[in-house]
Amino acid sequence: MKFQPILLLVIIVTGVGISACSDLDLLRKDRQILPVKDYERMIVGRRDADYVGTEACLKKCHAHDNLNHLFNASIHGEQVAAETGLPLVNCESCHGPGSLAIEELLPLDTPGEYRCKHETLLPLEQLPAQAQSLVCLKCHSAAATTNLTRWHFGEHSAAGISCFECHNLHQTSAQKVSRKDQDALCFQCHPDVKAAFAARSHHPVPEKKLICVDCHNPHGSSLRSDLIGLTVKETCTRCHMEYQGPFLYQHADVTEDCINCHNSHGSPNQRLLRVGEPFLCLQCHSGHSSVVSAPALADQNYKTAYYQRCTDCHSSIHGSDLPSSKGRGTFISR
Ligand code: HEC
Ligand code: HEC
Ligand code: HEC
Ligand code: HEC
Ligand code: HEC
Ligand code: HEC
Ligand code: HEC
Ligand code: HEC
Ligand code: HEC
Repeated sequence: MKFQPILLLVIIVTGVGISACSDLDLLRKDRQILPVKDYERMIVGRRDADYVGTEACLKKCHAHDNLNHLFNASIHGEQVAAETGLPLVNCESCHGPGSLAIEELLPLDTPGEYRCKHETLLPLEQLPAQAQSLVCLKCHSAAATTNLTRWHFGEHSAAGISCFECHNLHQTSAQKVSRKDQDALCFQCHPDVKAAFAARSHHPVPEKKLICVDCHNPHGSSLRSDLIGLTVKETCTRCHMEYQGPFLYQHADVTEDCINCHNSHGSPNQRLLRVGEPFLCLQCHSGHSSVVSAPALADQNYKTAYYQRCTDCHSSIHGSDLPSSKGRGTFISR
C-alpha cells in the first residue's frame, strides 16, 4: 500500500503532461507560417521577365479594355509620381513583370482576338494568403496606410484571410469596400452575425444606419474582436457619449465593459440586454431578499423587487452624479 501515493503522483503527472502536450501540439499545428522572405520570393515573379509598362502590356489586347478603363479611373490608376509624371501603380505592380506574357500572343477562338501568356505572370489566385497580402503590403506598409498598422495582429490575417477576399479591385473603379455593400460582404463569412442582427432588439445595421466598421476594424486592432476603440467602453461611448462618465457614483468597474450587460449585435431581450431583467442583475446581486438590505423599501412589500425591473427604481444604472435619498450611490436619481 506504500506505493499508492507514488502511483497516484505518477498518474497525475502523466495526466498533466499529456494534456499540456496536446495543448502545445494544437498551438504548433494550428498554422504553419513561413518566414517573410519565403513569401517575398513568391511575389517577385519570373526572374527572366522584365517590366514593360501598362501601355506595352495592353497595346494589342482589347480583352482588358474595360478593366483598363476602370483601373484608370481608380485611385490606383490616378497615382502619378510628381517628379517624373510616370504612374506609381500599374498592372505589373501587382501582377509581376510582363515581358514574357506579351512576347508572343496566342490567338483566341474569335478571329483577330488574342490573349497574352498570362501563365508567366504571378499566379495571384494560387498564392498562399500571406503572400497575397504581401502584394498589397509592399506599398501599403504600416507607415503608408496607418489603418493597416495592426494587420498582423488582426483576426483576419491570423485566419488566413487575404486582402483579395474583401477588396475586389477590378469590379468597379472603387478600391475601397463600399459602405453600402459592406454588411453583405461580411455576412458571407459571418452568418451567425447576420442572424444576431435579425433579433428583436438590434443595432440598426440592417436599417443601414450603422455599418460594421463603425465598431470593427477588419484590418486588425489592439482590442478583442478587432474592435476599433482603445477599450470596449470607448468603442461604445463614441456614439453613446452620455454613459462615458466618470460619474460620482460608478457601477463599480462593471460599466468598463458594456458587454457585461449588453449584446453587441442583437438580442431577444429589449435594449440589447444579454439577459432580461431582473435576472440580469441577479447574476451579481441578491436583490432585495431582506428588508434590511434596503431600508427604504421597508414600507413596501420588498418582494416586488423580484417581479419588476430593477431599473424601474435604479434607473441611472450606468452611473450617476446624484445620490439616492439616503445619500448613497444606488443609481436612484431623482
Ligand atoms: C493593386 C493591385 C492590382 C493592380 C494594379 C492590377 N491588378 Fe489585376 N488583379 C489583381 C488581383 C488581386 C486580382 C484577382 C485575384 C483574385 O481573383 O483573387 C486581379 C485579377 C486580374 C485579372 C483576372 C481576373 C479578372 O477580373 O478578369 C486580370 C485579367 C487582371 N487582373 C488584369 C489587370 C490589368 C490589365 C491591370 C492594369 C490595367 C491590372 N490587372 C492591375 C490586382 C491588381
Ligand atoms: C505599387 C504600390 C501599390 C500596390 C502594390 C497596392 N497599392 Fe493600393 N494604393 C496605392 C497608393 C499610392 C494609393 C493611394 C494613396 C493611399 O490612399 O494610400 C492606394 C490606394 C488604395 C486604396 C484606396 C484608399 C482610399 O482611401 O480610397 C485601397 C482600398 C487599396 N489601395 C487597396 C490595395 C490592395 C487591396 C492592394 C493589393 C491587391 C493594393 N492596394 C496594392 C499603392 C499601391
Ligand atoms: C475582412 C475584409 C477586409 C480585408 C481582409 C481587408 N480589408 Fe481593407 N477595407 C475593408 C473595408 C470594409 C474597408 C472600408 C473601411 C471604411 O469605409 O472605413 C477597407 C478599407 C481599406 C483601405 C482604405 C483606406 C483606409 O484606411 O480606410 C485600404 C488602403 C485597405 N482597405 C487596404 C487593405 C489591404 C492592403 C489589405 C490586406 C493587407 C486589406 N485592406 C484587407 C475590408 C477589408
Ligand atoms: C455597435 C457596434 C458593433 C457593430 C455595428 C458591429 N459589431 Fe461585431 N462586435 C461588436 C462587439 C462589441 C463585439 C465583441 C462581443 C464580445 O466580446 O462578446 C463584436 C463581435 C463580433 C464578432 C465575433 C463574435 C461573434 O459574434 O461572432 C464578429 C464576427 C463580428 N462582431 C462581426 C460583425 C459584423 C460582420 C458586423 C457588421 C454586419 C458587425 N460585427 C457590426 C460590436 C459591433
Ligand atoms: C472571406 C471570409 C471573410 C470575410 C469576407 C469577412 N470575414 Fe471576418 N473573419 C473571417 C474568419 C475566417 C475569421 C476568424 C475566425 C472567426 O473567428 O470566425 C474572422 C474573424 C472576424 C472577427 C473576429 C471574430 C472573433 O471571434 O473575435 C471580426 C470582428 C470580423 N471577422 C469582422 C468582419 C467584418 C466586419 C467583415 C466585413 C468588412 C468581415 N469580417 C469579413 C472571415 C471573413
Ligand atoms: C456608430 C455609433 C454606435 C456605436 C459605436 C454603438 N452604438 Fe449603440 N446604438 C447606436 C444607434 C444608432 C442605436 C439606435 C438608436 C435608436 O434606434 O434610437 C443604438 C442603440 C443601442 C442600444 C439600445 C437598443 C434598443 O433596443 O433600444 C443599446 C443598448 C446600445 N446601442 C448599446 C451599445 C453598446 C453596448 C455599444 C458598444 C459595443 C454600442 N451601442 C456602440 C449607435 C451606436
Ligand atoms: C450593469 C449592467 C449594464 C451595463 C454594464 C451597461 N448597461 Fe446599458 N443598459 C442596462 C440596462 C438594464 C438598460 C435598460 C434600461 C431600461 O430599460 O430603462 C440599459 C440601456 C442602455 C441603452 C438604451 C438606453 C435607452 O434609453 O434606450 C444604451 C444606449 C446603453 N444601455 C448603453 C450602454 C453602454 C454604452 C454601456 C457601456 C458604457 C452600457 N450600456 C453598460 C444595463 C447596463
Ligand atoms: C457583472 C456583475 C453585475 C451586474 C450584472 C450588475 N451589477 Fe450592480 N454592482 C456590481 C458590483 C461589483 C457593484 C459594486 C459593489 C460594491 O461596491 O459593494 C455593484 C453595485 C450596485 C449597486 C450599488 C450598491 C451599493 O451598495 O451602493 C446597485 C444599486 C446595483 N449594483 C444595482 C444593479 C442593478 C439594478 C443591476 C441590473 C440592471 C446590476 N446592478 C447589475 C456588479 C454587477
Ligand atoms: C421598488 C423600487 C426598487 C426596485 C424594484 C429594486 N430596488 Fe434595489 N433599492 C431600492 C431602494 C430604495 C434602495 C435603497 C437606496 C438607499 O439606500 O438609498 C435599494 C438598494 C439596492 C442595493 C444596495 C443596497 C444594499 O445594501 O443592498 C442593491 C444592490 C439593489 N438595490 C439591487 C436591486 C436589484 C438587483 C433589483 C432587482 C432585482 C432591485 N434592487 C430592485 C429600490 C428598489
